Amino acid sequence: MTTTDASLTTIAVGGPAPYDVLVGPGAARHVVSALPDAASVAVVHDERLGELAAPVAAALHAAGRRVEVMVVPSGEQAKTLEVVARLWDDFAGAAVTRSDAVVAVGGGATTDVVGFAAATWLRGVRVVHVPTTLLAMVDAAVGGKTGINTSAGKNLAGAFHPPAAVLVDLDLLTALPAHEWVNGMAEVVKAGFIADPVILDLIGSDVAGAALPTGPSTRALVERSIAMKAHVVAADLKEAGPREMLNYGHTLGHAIERHESYTIPHGHAVSIGMVFAAELARVADRLDDATADRHREVLDDLGLPTSYARDAWPSLLETMRMDKKARGGTLRFVVLDGLGKPAILAAPDDDLLLAAYREVSS
Ligand code: GLY
Repeated sequence: MTTTDASLTTIAVGGPAPYDVLVGPGAARHVVSALPDAASVAVVHDERLGELAAPVAAALHAAGRRVEVMVVPSGEQAKTLEVVARLWDDFAGAAVTRSDAVVAVGGGATTDVVGFAAATWLRGVRVVHVPTTLLAMVDAAVGGKTGINTSAGKNLAGAFHPPAAVLVDLDLLTALPAHEWVNGMAEVVKAGFIADPVILDLIGSDVAGAALPTGPSTRALVERSIAMKAHVVAADLKEAGPREMLNYGHTLGHAIERHESYTIPHGHAVSIGMVFAAELARVADRLDDATADRHREVLDDLGLPTSYARDAWPSLLETMRMDKKARGGTLRFVVLDGLGKPAILAAPDDDLLLAAYREVSS
């Protein structure tokens, strides 16, 4: 998409269905140019975020588009088949056709479920994401993964459906509670460890600032994390290869989320999962002590959790095995062979896993 707004950065995401991520203050206002030819647009927002969605709907309306506003429940509770079925009914009621579009306004759960409803409605209508949390800006909204949870696990039903555009409006961060920002910082830290150590240096140079959405490095942290993800997903949309590295910290992280019935924030679970992955690589003699220790330091400094209950291990291990079985694979962990050097540790033996978990458990 084209914009003459000099305050915005455009990050192009290549691959089979290329699109742009616009980053900067006021980026959401560009929703009209992101959808130059959609006559009818369904704007779907997290039920708590009507105020953030209103200007998006108003901009479309002012440009002469027919706009229907729809709501989904807040957070992970939205990622169910019932919510998708309700959106399908709403799309039918609003006569959303193949040439129309959907706009999702909310955090990662919202972009996941609305993206999935858009991917499946009429076998795929365009979706533009307007992420409202740091987590969604740097991860969920970029890369085309959409989905819902099932009783067997997280994100087990879904589709790859790259958006038509992602509008990362940095003005929306002023309304973001500090704890939501810190939650998203886990994915920013992940980007630092797996690919872009400058991110870790930026955090280290002003930890207090990095723990707040108003910190001096906010824009650089957001842009660098998105650029890293854009680069990876452009090369491997469907996770046949390098995209797997984005799951750093997520194997144990997903098991912890399930153990907590999805009440623990995703970033907290990933934070613990990254410390575990670092310990796993250390006990497997793959990662140097300084880089392994740096995980705990940077995550602790940001106020993210770095340990988990010792007696949860048998249940977490069972969940990880079940999750992998459901996905048709063996247990695999993304580990680091050094800073910015992700690699796979496949089918580790139970002693190694337990030794790593001991270092994480409290
Ligand atoms: N959140 C991991 C991925 O998009 O592949």
